[in-house]
Amino acid sequence: MLIRMLKTNRMILVGMLILLVFAVGCSKQTAPVQQEAAPEAPAAAAPVLVSDDELSYRNEPLMDPSDTPVPSFEAPDPGDADLMERAFENSPPLIPHTTDGYLPITINDNQCLECHLPENAVDAEATATPASHLYDIRRDVQLKDLNPANFNCTQCHATQAEVAPLVANTFEPYFRTDDGASQSNLLDILNDGVE
Ligand code: HEC
Ligand code: HEC
Repeated sequence: MLIRMLKTNRMILVGMLILLVFAVGCSKQTAPVQQEAAPEAPAAAAPVLVSDDELSYRNEPLMDPSDTPVPSFEAPDPGDADLMERAFENSPPLIPHTTDGYLPITINDNQCLECHLPENAVDAEATATPASHLYDIRRDVQLKDLNPANFNCTQCHATQAEVAPLVANTFEPYFRTDDGASQSNLLDILNDGVE
């Protein structure tokens, strides 16, 4: 009985050895991994130089506007112009009339005031400067006259020229009040949402 078990064990052992040799042999055959050459790092892209000549939306040298057509700022005289819709809520309204003869605004010559200060606006049939322009927002003080910070009207209010936009504008304004496209109320709503 014992001898038979030994015999069987030996046979199993031999069998396992053969299997082992076979397995090692096989694995040796599959072992050599083809060492592929490491892919070469892509060559750093050569910097693309864009010259001043290619940068401009005008399709002409950026630094030389001599071929750029001068836009026409022709507009009706004050009193004959149609008001334009506000670009967005409480945006500075665009100037619909000509400003020929009114610019540049200087410390001694600001003709805008002659028609747009509240005391002149009714007679001139012009929109009066809003309450915000007679208020010192920074110091929270009501002023009797125009806040000098608002003296240079064309810093914010723009004259209009007849030009084709170079880039289409898809912005759509949202007005919270029904008359938001024609009136401003900045001073009234300035603290909205502030405790
Ligand atoms: C001679 C009077 C007069 C002068 C000077 C004048 N305006 Fe006007 N402005 C008007 C009138 C009137 C209107 C209303 C539109 C119209 O009837 O032409 C108007 C409209 C405007 C509007 C649009 C208001 C709105 O409700 O949309 C702005 C902004 C404006 N003017 C700014 C200016 C600025 C800035 C100057 C100075 C560079 C100026 N105006 C000079 C009379 C004048
Ligand atoms: C710092 C920018 C700034 C300057 C400078 C400025 N405005 Fe304005 N203006 C605004 C803005 C923003 C609004 C709309 C919000 C509001 O009511 O203040 C406005 C509104 C107006 C309106 C429309 C009022 C209404 O009831 O809808 C008139 C008219 C006007 N401004 C005239 C002038 C005149 C004239 C001057 C120069 C004396 C001037 N503004 C200077 C920013 C400016």
